[in-house]
Amino acid sequence: MEYDEADKKQWNEAAESWVEFVRNGKNYYSEYLNGPALKRMIGNVEGKKVLDMGCGEGYFSRFFAKAGAGVTGIDISEGLIKAAVEEEERHPLGVKYFVADAANLNMLESESFDVAFCYMALLDIRNYEGAISEASRVLKTGGRFVVLIEHPCFTLFRIVDGKVVGGWKTRLRENGSKEYLYYWITDYLRRHSYTVKWKHDRLPSNFVTTGFHRTLSDYVNALTKHGLAITGLDEPQPLEEGVRVHHPMKKHYRVPQSIVIEATKITAQRTPKRVKLI
Ligand SMILES: C[S@@+](CC[C@H](N)C(=O)[O-])C[C@H]1O[C@@H](n2cnc3c(N)ncnc32)[C@H](O)[C@@H]1O
Repeated sequence: MEYDEADKKQWNEAAESWVEFVRNGKNYYSEYLNGPALKRMIGNVEGKKVLDMGCGEGYFSRFFAKAGAGVTGIDISEGLIKAAVEEEERHPLGVKYFVADAANLNMLESESFDVAFCYMALLDIRNYEGAISEASRVLKTGGRFVVLIEHPCFTLFRIVDGKVVGGWKTRLRENGSKEYLYYWITDYLRRHSYTVKWKHDRLPSNFVTTGFHRTLSDYVNALTKHGLAITGLDEPQPLEEGVRVHHPMKKHYRVPQSIVIEATKITAQRTPKRVKLI
């Protein structure tokens, strides 16, 4: 399955709003929860070659370039890559950007990166197995692929057959504030695509994108199938500062919003072994 032109079109239409959202510091989940978790998992990148898959307007490409890495960013959206390139021209950090489907990175050499990461994008990538296969191909043996996704067990706003299949049960307190009681979910094992409606007061304008629900084992099995063994896992909690800035984040001390998987390339591909029973 290749990417759909519609995926590209949606992210191109979202580009202007997304760029402003990210650059004006209003992406609180990135600033205070998931960004810190990604940086912890990736660690020191000085002198390393790093690939940012689904880089958007280049937020994390710039961060790791400033930390001393040689960074390449790829994204399917021309609009977002244009914004990334313009920022690179204004403040050069040596980041190379390409418009590309993560499942087809033929402009990149095999075995050439120390770290590849995919931050909040694998859920948006139609051919996730193709993207994982490409990450494995371009990594050196011993190189690491770090994936941060919305936690597949607790994904918000999933809709199946017109019905929401997971979310927070809330109630209003007497003072009008929202209390988050518990997280509920059904239809976890059903794989499907769904429309994500990006609509909140921190976005300059609303937009829609497409998400793909897969299970945790789908991701883990795709990684191991492509020679990437799990070597690290995190279900991060927000920084205290984040809870002060955006109080609803407090609920993620109880239920994680995301998961970070570190997988290390041990072989080019896993070849299925036939075990002979005697
Ligand atoms: C939620 S955004 C995250 C962007 C960026 N990582 C960030 O944190 O700002 C998801 C990104 O995935 C990209 N994307 C979707 N499908 C893709 C594909 N098939 N190949 C590469 N990028 C894709 C979108 O264009 C978008 O930039």
